[in-house]
Amino acid sequence: MANQLFARKSIDKLSADAFSEGAHNLKRTLGPGNLIALGVGAIIGTGIFVLTGSAAAQYTGPAIVLAFILAGLGCAFAGLCYAEFASMIPIAGSAYTYGYATLGEFVAWIIGWDLILEYLFGAATVAVGWSGYVVSFLRDLGVNIPPQWSSASGVEMVFIEKNNAWVRITEQLTTSLASEGVDIATLPHATGIFNLVAAIAITLVTILLVRGMSESAKVNNIAVIIKVGVVILFILAGANYLFGHSAEASENWTPFLPENKGGFGEYGWSGVIRAAGVIFFAYIGFDAVSTTAQEAKNPQKDMPIGILGSLVICTILYILVSGILTAMVHYSQLNVAEPIAIGIEKTGYTFLRDLIKIGAIAGLSSVMLVMLMSQPRIFYTMANDGLLPPIFGKLHPKFRTPHVSTILTGLICALVAGAFSVDELGHLVSIGTLLAFVIVCAGVWYLRVKEPNRPRPFKTPLVPLVPILGILVCLGMMAGLPAETWYRLLGWMAIGIIIYFVYGKKNSVIRKEQNL
Ligand code: ALA
Repeated sequence: MANQLFARKSIDKLSADAFSEGAHNLKRTLGPGNLIALGVGAIIGTGIFVLTGSAAAQYTGPAIVLAFILAGLGCAFAGLCYAEFASMIPIAGSAYTYGYATLGEFVAWIIGWDLILEYLFGAATVAVGWSGYVVSFLRDLGVNIPPQWSSASGVEMVFIEKNNAWVRITEQLTTSLASEGVDIATLPHATGIFNLVAAIAITLVTILLVRGMSESAKVNNIAVIIKVGVVILFILAGANYLFGHSAEASENWTPFLPENKGGFGEYGWSGVIRAAGVIFFAYIGFDAVSTTAQEAKNPQKDMPIGILGSLVICTILYILVSGILTAMVHYSQLNVAEPIAIGIEKTGYTFLRDLIKIGAIAGLSSVMLVMLMSQPRIFYTMANDGLLPPIFGKLHPKFRTPHVSTILTGLICALVAGAFSVDELGHLVSIGTLLAFVIVCAGVWYLRVKEPNRPRPFKTPLVPLVPILGILVCLGMMAGLPAETWYRLLGWMAIGIIIYFVYGKKNSVIRKEQNL
């Protein structure tokens, strides 16, 4: 019974398939530069443009910088492990395929099911971030979208005149307004019904994907240039402002790590750990590089460069952005949908404000596109392996896209994006992805012991230390996330396990081949 659950795919066969003639219908066009751009394109999004603000406001204050360093460290360990796998098994399917080749079918299914949290729920999270920036941009143009239809069901908000924004009511906000002599009860109130704007974003991207819009490296490169350009502009304008306002900066940065308020995760070191788990979301995407392994010119050499290069660039940018933002605006004011734009408003360069918003909107669109494109690909691979019904592997006769799974993904994603807040979603995506990282780190270690002589074009240094540190830091970040997030993860996994035993185990292609 146990062995039956752990049927493995042969790595030799996977590698041979990756380089066989048949696989050449995926053209090998991507060099190391494209791969880094692809990684940065998938990474920079809601995490830095949105979650930085709410995490600083709720958990860490200016010490959000430390949370970015901690999360970056966890990703570096996991990234080194991904790099070993991606160069050894350079085939689309990423962690799901690595799981199949090392720890067996059951673990592969668990990872595949878990990756739905990363990609489908990830796209929903980014859509909510996108809606925040679109609503704010439209407001600048004089078009007011009712807050009830641009935020999650049940969210209570007030309108803050000086920020010209609807802000979610929290204890910090109430206290901070009270200290300025403003009674929160006197401000205009609204309660969210459904985030229609986010749902529309997902619908539009889904329509594009069904029609076969491909994520060509060229389009992606342009999106990356805009996104990175906007982030660098923010850093330069912010630094320039801070040089002239050093007293204000040091006031905003004092205390750097506000005292713990009694509960786990609200300021103090537990806050840093919780925030690291939350803003870990900002780093998600470097693993998406590994799904393009079959389109890389020289995957053995370039996969590690793409994965680790994009990670290093984003870590540096994130530390600078979060440090500058919290120095410019007091953290208590940052629990808004577009914190980076609020930051830039402080500099007085109003023209930059709209540029930042346009950059964020373009950048977030590309992240949604990559995520909603990856999800059906993973469903497609799983359906070909027999773990999901064949309908998920069906291709559109004309557009040659996996249209059914793309539409299903889009539909569920739009509903999720409309109903939940960016925080709830972001937490779930973080915990799900962290779990995938833990399994990948464990897989690298396991395969080193089991097959020490297998050729590895890129070797994770210091095994087993690096995988162990990866596992520990990722588990630590998971531990920092709220209990409800854990319940949701466990509930999700329980549903997945039931589906495997009811469907996947009976229909698995590899189990039929091996007569299990
Ligand atoms: N890292 C991506 C983002 O922050 C998922 O939007």
